[in-house]
Amino acid sequence: MQIFPSIICSDILNLQKTLQTLDSVCDGYHIDVMDDHFVPNLTIGPDFVNAITRKTALPSHVHLMVDNPKNWCDRLNLKKIDTLTFHIEAVSSYDELLDLVDKIRNKGWKKGLALNPNTPPPEYPVLQCFDQIIIMSVNPGFSGQKFIPEVVEKIKNLVNIKKRYFSDLQIAVDGGIDKQNMKMLIDLGVDVFCVGSAVFAAQDPRQALEELYNL
Ligand code: DX5
Ligand code: ZN
Repeated sequence: MQIFPSIICSDILNLQKTLQTLDSVCDGYHIDVMDDHFVPNLTIGPDFVNAITRKTALPSHVHLMVDNPKNWCDRLNLKKIDTLTFHIEAVSSYDELLDLVDKIRNKGWKKGLALNPNTPPPEYPVLQCFDQIIIMSVNPGFSGQKFIPEVVEKIKNLVNIKKRYFSDLQIAVDGGIDKQNMKMLIDLGVDVFCVGSAVFAAQDPRQALEELYNL
């Protein structure tokens, strides 16, 4: 099990300090990119994302919640160990999805696909294109929301498919993760947790993160 704290939920005027504090205790960073169109919120642009990924030797998972993920691909400058994730709802055809997958592959990055809470699991030919599937357990746009329990069935389903057919595929869950639901999700076989407020709303984010690892 890996934990990727959602860095945009941290004290953003002290990002460098946050990286220094957490680098030795986490697996990497989840970076939320929102364009105020695909979701009703705005976070950071490509230069800012590039600056964060350059500052840490750990892998970053860049989670694009944007309308035209293809445009973003050219502006990003990630490390080979980083993952670029786009939403299946942001592409309008299978061909567009494959083009984007090729683009990310050509950059040498890992490929991630995110699914909104109401989106069903993708077909196998789609799944096999990716290194990671992010199952959203809140409607994307804001941190601090409550975990949507209906998503658990989809998580079980995708973990089963992964175990049978795609053993290298990472199953990640993003949204409303806390001490209460994380143990159950670990038992289900979730590989990666993207965690915002359960770490950064705590008085001591490093300690909060360590407590989640101890689960
Ligand atoms: C939601 C984002 C999440 C969010 C997680 O749109 O994709 O990554 O920052 O924050 P919490 O853990 O507070 O739900
Ligand atoms: Zn996210």
